[in-house]
Amino acid sequence: MTVLARRGGYEIDDDRHRLDRDVIHRFLTASYWSTGIRRDAVDRSLARSDCYGLYGPDGQQAGFARVVTDAVRFALLCDVFVLPAHRGRGLGRWIVAAVLAELDSMGVSRVILGTADAHDLYRQQGFSGLADPGRMMERRHADPMWRDPAPAHSG
Ligand SMILES: CC(C)(COP(=O)(O)OP(=O)(O)OC[C@H]1O[C@@H](n2cnc3c(N)ncnc32)[C@H](O)[C@@H]1OP(=O)(O)O)[C@@H](O)C(=O)NCCC(=O)NCCS
Repeated sequence: MTVLARRGGYEIDDDRHRLDRDVIHRFLTASYWSTGIRRDAVDRSLARSDCYGLYGPDGQQAGFARVVTDAVRFALLCDVFVLPAHRGRGLGRWIVAAVLAELDSMGVSRVILGTADAHDLYRQQGFSGLADPGRMMERRHADPMWRDPAPAHSG
């Protein structure tokens, strides 16, 4: 177990084995960005990422963040959440700051992320819109295989 930070009974820990995968899957499969993601797909993404767990005073999972990085030039920050019961007390800002401190200590030159509505949270941590969007591209899979099949329609 590697506790990175403690505050008011909460802990941020980068030990992948401490994660409550049921809680993380339950949140992510209902999220707007990975709706319907299967448990095995979440497990695979956790195995290939740097994982940061936020734990409450009772030791239970209270939030999460995940980073994919080469530890040199590039990092993608994703799957950031704080469970509803713990929101509005600075924990989202705290876990993002802790993750960025880790990446800064490695000297990673660029951190990117996508968000639909949490821009303010990230602006407070030094993020801005792409300096030169014309230099970024993306490629999307036509049929991502990490989702549960859509429920069959009757009739
Ligand atoms: C976004 C989220 C992680 C914030 O967690 P939190 O612990 O409540 O956040 P904090 O208390 O640290 O608030 C930090 C800032 O985040 C912003 N913020 C908080 N909740 C927000 C929300 N639901 N949507 C957008 N921005 C939000 C506010 O600007 C706040 O700054 P302020 O205190 O100056 O108003 C949490 O609401 C959440 O899990 N939402 C659902 C998942 C999500 O949208 N994740 C981000 C995907 S990119």
